[in-house]
Amino acid sequence: MSNLTPEVLISEDDIRKRVAELAQQISTDYNDSGDLVMIGVLKGSFIFLADLSRQLKIPRTIEFIAVSSYGSGSVSSGAVRLVMDVRGNIEGKHVLIVEDIVDTGHTLKYLIGMLKSHRPASVKTAALVRKAESAEVDVTIDYLGFDIGNEWVVGYGLDYAEQHRTLPYIGVVKPTDT
Ligand code: IMP
Ligand code: MG
Repeated sequence: MSNLTPEVLISEDDIRKRVAELAQQISTDYNDSGDLVMIGVLKGSFIFLADLSRQLKIPRTIEFIAVSSYGSGSVSSGAVRLVMDVRGNIEGKHVLIVEDIVDTGHTLKYLIGMLKSHRPASVKTAALVRKAESAEVDVTIDYLGFDIGNEWVVGYGLDYAEQHRTLPYIGVVKPTDT
């Protein structure tokens, strides 16, 4: 992989503003609703979860879950495998799944079903980015940051073969960069 800098698609400033808006909305929606547990999907959601959770004005706890659906490349297999489950008990709690990006929707759909089997009070979803044209399954995103086209994006937690996760913005890797 070359060291070319990915082209900016969503700026750091736009991300900051949108995450603040989502945090405001989540704080309003879950006010007085009881235990909220935010479940970040590793690895890609770690920065979004950190920024979003720190701006909430309501009590919340943090859990992580890990799945694998892709190898090191960029082609969806549709098959999702649980690599690490939540540690805490989520029964009776309000679960908010925090995803980096929804592409085909298989991962999120799998997670919703899997987490519902733990009998939480509710399950909702937040995703920073969605590739609207790539949807293969119908899945509701309750809190969505941005819709983008069908292109591979990196930064703000997202990677291409583990590169570029810590870029402060969301960028596009051109085929010649890789
Ligand atoms: P889905 O199951 O097809 O919706 O894929 C979701 C997962 O694929 C995301 O949680 C990401 O980990 C990964 N993914 C999909 N598109 C991208 C992308 O453009 N950049 C980085 N990761 C992606
Ligand atoms: Mg992910």
